[in-house]
Amino acid sequence: MNIIISTTCLFLLLLLLPLVSCTNNNQVYLVELGENNIKGDKTLHEIENTHHSYLLLVKETEDEARASHLYSYKHTFNGFAALLTPNEANNLSGMEGVVSVHKSQTRIYSLHTTRSWKFVGLDGPFDPLEQKSNETNRDLLTKAKYGQDIIVGMVDSGVWPDSKSFSDEGMGPVPQKWKGVCQNGTDFGSSNCNRKIIGARYYLQGYEKIYGPLNEEEDYKSARDKDGHGTHTASIVAGRAVQNASALGGFARGTASGGAPLARLAIYKACWPIKGKPKNDGNVCTNIDMLKAIDDAIEDGVDVINLSIGFPAPLKYEDDVIAKGALQAVRKNIVVVCSAGNAGPSPHSLSNPSPWIITVGASTVDRTFLAPIKLSNGTTIEGRSITPLRMGNSFCPLVLASDVEYAGILSANSSYCLDNTLDPSKVKGKIVLCMRGQGGRVKKSLEVQRAGGVGLILGNNKVYANDVPSDPYFIPTTGVTYENTLKLVQYIHSSPNPMAQLLPGRTVLDTKPAPSMAIFSSRGPNIIDPNILKPDITAPGVDILAAWTAKDGPTRMTFQDKRVVKYNIFSGTSMSCPHVSAASVLLKAMHPTWSPAAIRSALMTSARITDNTGNPMTDETGNPTTPFAMGSGHFYPKRASDPGLIYDASYMDYLLYLCNLNLTQHINLTYNCPNPLPQPFDLNYPSIQIHKLNYTKTIKRTVTNVGSSKSVYKFIANTPKEFNILATSSVLKFKHVGQKRNFVITVTANRDQLPSKCDPDKYYFGWYIWTDNYHVVRSPIAVSFQ
Ligand SMILES: *[C@@H]1O[C@H](CO)[C@@H](O)[C@H](O)[C@H]1NC(C)=O
Ligand SMILES: *[C@@H]1O[C@H](CO)[C@@H](O)[C@H](O)[C@H]1NC(C)=O
Ligand SMILES: *[C@@H]1O[C@H](CO)[C@@H](O)[C@H](O)[C@H]1NC(C)=O
Ligand SMILES: *[C@@H]1O[C@H](CO)[C@@H](O)[C@H](O)[C@H]1NC(C)=O
Ligand SMILES: *[C@@H]1O[C@H](CO)[C@@H](O)[C@H](O)[C@H]1NC(C)=O
Ligand SMILES: *[C@@H]1O[C@H](CO)[C@@H](O)[C@H](O)[C@H]1NC(C)=O
Ligand SMILES: *[C@@H]1O[C@H](CO)[C@@H](O)[C@H](O)[C@H]1NC(C)=O
Ligand SMILES: *[C@@H]1O[C@H](CO)[C@@H](O)[C@H](O)[C@H]1NC(C)=O
Ligand SMILES: *[C@@H]1O[C@H](CO)[C@@H](O)[C@H](O)[C@H]1NC(C)=O
Ligand SMILES: *[C@@H]1O[C@H](CO)[C@@H](O)[C@H](O)[C@H]1NC(C)=O
Repeated sequence: MNIIISTTCLFLLLLLLPLVSCTNNNQVYLVELGENNIKGDKTLHEIENTHHSYLLLVKETEDEARASHLYSYKHTFNGFAALLTPNEANNLSGMEGVVSVHKSQTRIYSLHTTRSWKFVGLDGPFDPLEQKSNETNRDLLTKAKYGQDIIVGMVDSGVWPDSKSFSDEGMGPVPQKWKGVCQNGTDFGSSNCNRKIIGARYYLQGYEKIYGPLNEEEDYKSARDKDGHGTHTASIVAGRAVQNASALGGFARGTASGGAPLARLAIYKACWPIKGKPKNDGNVCTNIDMLKAIDDAIEDGVDVINLSIGFPAPLKYEDDVIAKGALQAVRKNIVVVCSAGNAGPSPHSLSNPSPWIITVGASTVDRTFLAPIKLSNGTTIEGRSITPLRMGNSFCPLVLASDVEYAGILSANSSYCLDNTLDPSKVKGKIVLCMRGQGGRVKKSLEVQRAGGVGLILGNNKVYANDVPSDPYFIPTTGVTYENTLKLVQYIHSSPNPMAQLLPGRTVLDTKPAPSMAIFSSRGPNIIDPNILKPDITAPGVDILAAWTAKDGPTRMTFQDKRVVKYNIFSGTSMSCPHVSAASVLLKAMHPTWSPAAIRSALMTSARITDNTGNPMTDETGNPTTPFAMGSGHFYPKRASDPGLIYDASYMDYLLYLCNLNLTQHINLTYNCPNPLPQPFDLNYPSIQIHKLNYTKTIKRTVTNVGSSKSVYKFIANTPKEFNILATSSVLKFKHVGQKRNFVITVTANRDQLPSKCDPDKYYFGWYIWTDNYHVVRSPIAVSFQ
């Protein structure tokens, strides 16, 4: 069976913490066993018995052994998770048949769609029940039957099953291959599963071993989502079309729909609140819980898994059990889609760089929320807001936060409106200009409110430049660019009596330029392997409207935000990832025999690199972006469904690739790496990266014809002056579909265009295409020189 796992990985900042157990000296360990194959052919019970017998060798009693056993894995990892003392771990690691015993790690992620689908050329509404007009626009969805036979596994914070986005009205019976369950739990039972949400499970073992029992005030002990993140992303992938959906205050009103509205959802809840912390500080998902969720998803028969995890910095493959689990998913023909992370725009911030994963960046859509500021001198300054509150019709005094603070605030902390910094006697009845750069954005509005202010202007510093976020604040609030912040400061300083009025926000469509890379989207180059260009692609991830839980406010500030919304706007690579997951669902439905690599290749080689002004896509600075932010470009599902040629790769190709990193032994003890080793950049990838090129390098690639039977493709290269690209032959001729052609790309440095001493971290970018005049199969190339 062909399966897709799309692990849409994480959001902003992720911390790695050692797992510390709350009982005695026990800690959570992953014990990896040495028999060759993952035990897909055995029953879980047989596997558990084997694992239990290992634990009996180090634990005193049968009961102790049983109690210490947390999970046995069947598909993702050859081994088990258990509570061990350091001595027991040490002892176990010396035993025959045990390859390694590692302390498990925890990943904390902090979180962070009407318009987005229309914007990528899948004109909504997508749901056939809602379909009223133009058929030709729906070609892809119709051909893919709206994803109806595909099962998407979502590994996240659960789901709010009562949302209209998860209605099963008019849907056919559950696919027969489905083997999953609808697990009972708090406020969740079999009646919460239907023909849309076909399964639900939750994973608490890892979480409770670090943090102690779940506080049931903070989350449901079931697959029900209190947080909102899981509900939001699930509806981006596979939500039904819901008309007249909008965020708090009516922003972004329109039909909310997932990319594959008839696909089935299987919910695997593995992420939980951090004890005593508001949700907007992040959720926590332990490795062992996530690994078990993926393991069950494979066993249950999902086709796509959306898994949201991420790191501040990527882990080495050998330490990254999720990457290893993902490789086993790929072996089972599951597409794994992960987010690049929200640690941008600094270079090297990218996570999930494994070449068997589709790594997704985030960019804007052509929609904004304008909320101008009127100054009493008659000038209007542009701002953005989705705050559903209006100020009165009169002008109010406008002040800088640093002018209305309590005495004694240290200058490093000044002007940010941090907690308890504003002096009510100076703030009452005024609009306060607070700077971004320190402290939570939404919390600033609580501080201004506490001090009696009537409005907030959130000023960007130089780093945030034009990146103005949209949040539902607690008082009337507008965000402004750095340039406009300077104007406002100048106005306040130069006017004897500065006054302003915040006008209510409104939704504006067809904005230009779009897409543009989001400032937070993590950037390459890939520090794990400089021979693989990452991210792979970008997709809408800014201000995405999607379904929400009714149990947490739209800001995820659990303790302060008691507002209830059905739909909410969020940004992050967590939001762009499910877009690519949904596109993978549609491609999988249309091309059931395609491998995960073929699906990735189709998405990458058809991606767009220009925006809606026809110019190269830009980043937050307004300058053209690079493949280190956008990968191959912005995804374009319609074109991806007919890519012409694909760069395929199999599980065995990845094992061969890992030989270069000396890692194949970690995956497969019996695999013999060839001698000499292949070059790492010879993995048949749809993009190319060369690190420290001296003079010239040759790179092998193979394309498979999936377009018309007889076709002729021409080679065209576009390079900067620093290097040239040539192909062995400038024409590839195909006689039939499925035919493969090999070629060799030669990349040559133009040394006379380069400084005598090159910075190996400075990359230059170009691309090459194969085109039959209808299909354009594009591959970006990044080169640094020594
Ligand atoms: C493990 O511990 C047991 C008892 O503490 C001891 O008999 C055994 O030799 C140890 N095994 C190894 C491999 O250290
Ligand atoms: C359908 O859409 C296509 C392309 O957008 C357009 O050319 C055509 O006129 C439309 N047909 C109808 C019936 O609206
Ligand atoms: C599921 O939960 C409901 C309500 O909590 C309970 O009545 C029912 O017995 C449970 N079913 C199972 C199989 O545990
Ligand atoms: C959409 O919903 C709003 C309230 O949320 C309502 O006022 C409006 O009439 C609705 N519009 C349509 C077309 O149903
Ligand atoms: C800034 O404020 C935080 C608390 O908000 C405090 O912990 C920190 O010490 C302050 N730093 C300075 C430089 O005042
Ligand atoms: C109002 O003040 C702003 C900011 O100082 C300035 O840019 C603008 O020119 C002023 N408008 C008028 C009409 O003086
Ligand atoms: C899907 O993947 C995205 C991107 O990584 C992630 O942020 C989101 O939480 C996931 N959603 C679900 C429901 O698993
Ligand atoms: C590869 O790993 C083996 C054993 O772990 C080690 O002996 C060898 O030196 C390593 N080779 C490289 C190139 O790192
Ligand atoms: C391990 O390598 C062997 C020999 O190359 C291969 O037959 C087998 O499928 C591989 N298994 C796994 C799990 O990698
Ligand atoms: C770079 O190439 C030149 C000419 O081919 C050669 O002489 C030199 O040794 C090479 N340098 C390195 C570091 O490989």
